[in-house]
Amino acid sequence: MIPVNAPLLGERERELVLESLASTWISGRGKYVSAFEEAFAAYCGARFGVTTPTGTTALHLALAALGIGPGDEVIMPALTIISCAFAITYTGARPVLVDSEPETGNLDWTRLEGAITPRTRAIMPVHLYGHPLDLDPLLEIAHRHGLAVVEDAAEAHGALYRGRPVGGIGTAGCFSFYANKLVTTGEGGMVVTSDPQLADHARRLRDLAHTRERRFVHDEIGFNYQMTNLQAAMGLAQLERIDDSIALKRRMAAQYAEGLSGVPGLILPIEAPWVRSVYWMYAVRLDRGARCSRDQAMARLHERGVDTRTFFVPMHWQPVFLQRGWFTDEQYPVAEALSQTGFYLPSGLAITPEEIEQVCEAVRAVLT
Ligand SMILES: Cc1ncc(COP(=O)(O)O)c(C=O)c1O
Repeated sequence: MIPVNAPLLGERERELVLESLASTWISGRGKYVSAFEEAFAAYCGARFGVTTPTGTTALHLALAALGIGPGDEVIMPALTIISCAFAITYTGARPVLVDSEPETGNLDWTRLEGAITPRTRAIMPVHLYGHPLDLDPLLEIAHRHGLAVVEDAAEAHGALYRGRPVGGIGTAGCFSFYANKLVTTGEGGMVVTSDPQLADHARRLRDLAHTRERRFVHDEIGFNYQMTNLQAAMGLAQLERIDDSIALKRRMAAQYAEGLSGVPGLILPIEAPWVRSVYWMYAVRLDRGARCSRDQAMARLHERGVDTRTFFVPMHWQPVFLQRGWFTDEQYPVAEALSQTGFYLPSGLAITPEEIEQVCEAVRAVLT
């Protein structure tokens, strides 16, 4: 079976992880943690990085450090991973949803102002599947309304928006380093920002919020959200090769685009002229012209040894929120359609050109 997203790990990862093991600095302090924070933040064009155990906790930490809490609202896309909505919920704030734009699935900024209320404190745009969202108009709206922008760049390490790396553009940016990401630490995450106060607050909250004056005295509710030195060592080794990883993903996308062009009913991902996408996942969709449904196509690809995944399920269809009476009468037709027709082809960094060829052949066999 060709896996949907397998990581690429090498000698350098082994070397640095073993070095950190030998140093006996295995917990949340140690030279690799600060080295990884500095190097990754710099890569994103941000001044500070605060590592976390996961991308989900990075999102939570960023919101908490911004002081977002009960009574507040945070705007987010209807179509994304549930981590975004959960992170907002952990703070006591309410997620408010906005539909997607059809081509990339990213939050449709033209609908943003309709979702802003006096309670809105922040916007959480997501750079879905490695394709940057159109940030300039969103930032302009956020600025006009005095709102923070927490970029969820968990799927878009190294993606460029008008030449600038995503994650480093908004008030804060959040990353995941889960095994299928462009930089992995097994599990892991980071908040990056150029705001020194925000970085400082995030770091204090992450480390149990000891007061500056006295350790073991606490004047706000903190978390223990530390990444281990072992993970950071791996992150640093992964970061050294990020440009190769991005080049690999882009070659994969080019090969898929060529191998899959003209398949009836199959819609391939776009790359807007003002971005560099990193194709975290090669995300395709079926339209009415396809020979079979998305689920049938996935089942038939599975029979041919090709593993795939569906797009996310929109937030307003999640039982956990409907049970709370949230989003009950809301509809987001673009997000709904994407969720029902989209799936990812194998896109891991470890995929070979021969495997991509096999996937293309299987897709052609299933859909033509
Ligand atoms: C867009 C997005 N945000 C947040 C996350 C959460 O990251 P993690 O799985 O590290 O908690 C993910 C994870 O896959 C993601 O794809």
